[in-house]
Amino acid sequence: NNYALIMAGGIGSRFWPVSRTEFPKQFIDFFGVGKTLIQSTYDRFLQICPAENIFVITNEIYTDLVREQLPALKDNQILAEPIMRNTAPCIAYGSMKIAEINPEAVIVVAPSDHTIANQPAFLKAIEQSMNAASGSNTLITLGIKPNRPDTGYGYIQYVDDTLENDTEIHKVKIFTEKPNLELAKSFIQSGDFLWNAGIFIWSAQAVINAFEKHLPDMFDIFRNGKPHYNTLKEREFIAQAYQLCTNISIDFAIMEKAENVYVLPADFGWSDLGTWASIYEMAEKDYVGNAVMPSEHVMMYNSANCMVNVPKDKLVILQGLHDYIVVESNNTLLICPRAEEQNVKNIVADVKTKF
Ligand code: GDD
Ligand code: MG
Repeated sequence: NNYALIMAGGIGSRFWPVSRTEFPKQFIDFFGVGKTLIQSTYDRFLQICPAENIFVITNEIYTDLVREQLPALKDNQILAEPIMRNTAPCIAYGSMKIAEINPEAVIVVAPSDHTIANQPAFLKAIEQSMNAASGSNTLITLGIKPNRPDTGYGYIQYVDDTLENDTEIHKVKIFTEKPNLELAKSFIQSGDFLWNAGIFIWSAQAVINAFEKHLPDMFDIFRNGKPHYNTLKEREFIAQAYQLCTNISIDFAIMEKAENVYVLPADFGWSDLGTWASIYEMAEKDYVGNAVMPSEHVMMYNSANCMVNVPKDKLVILQGLHDYIVVESNNTLLICPRAEEQNVKNIVADVKTKF
């Protein structure tokens, strides 16, 4: 009964200009390992779910990329969204469709763009959560010990109470999606908060119940699709359904509100790869902290703690530069202090209005 729903519709705007609307980061091999992020994600779930139970949900404009990178997927396993509406509609659609195939399904919903260093520990956490979620009405998320007051994550505080069938999975007291810096700092100081890994485990029934309760309009929209899922009419139905959906993430819409949320604290070398800082953290650095990719034509003088990512054939010289991000792709050059990288998201929005 194990199913995976891989979300691959985001545009990774904080990674601009390397990750762009036409070619988002999940389709990029960031570390030169010979597999893109979505291919690694798929391979991980193949260890836990039968191949025919793995679904990828993405925007229409990326379905060709998905087909190309994951040729084992059948057409019915690639869910195409007509417009971007964030993760709530994406999960509502995917869950209803899977529930039509198997009402007993237990689903792991996961982003397509994370890196996981310790595969065995990851698989153990997922299997453990799937066992606990099977046939129950709980919403389980994985929690990661935070190491900085990052405002790009959801924060979770849990209590001693646990699930009856698994005493490592704790009841969540507060779920705060993307707090401001002040709040994030206080969470880190208090010491008992975890980051939401953005990987959710629940029975199809539990997540559908949560939509019914917290997003009844969206629940109705997708429930009306029942007769069409897994038929030729599905696309036509979805094209209309999405027009009616609000643009909201599962975190704001459900995780912050539901009272049946549980967390499994886990440690498997997780990185969201949400920003250049996370790439910098994972990347190999020289003795003064410069992470340079690729290194052939980059010359550094009196420069330290910089993250450089430039085209292979570009000669780049840095003199006296500290703690900067220097990134070029598609004829676009970005130079930004590492401490201000969260602004890249806003910059992209601004750039898009002008070019
Ligand atoms: N299909 C589809 N459609 N996928 C989407 C859409 C969409 O409209 N929007 C985003 N995604 C995909 C992204 O590609 C990514 O794989 C995943 O859904 C999560 O979206 P992000 O946009 O990356 O979310 P986030 O990183 O800002 O925040 C989430 O993840 C954090 C951990 O990485 C939240 O769950 C946070 O609470 C969490 O800490
Ligand atoms: Mg993310």
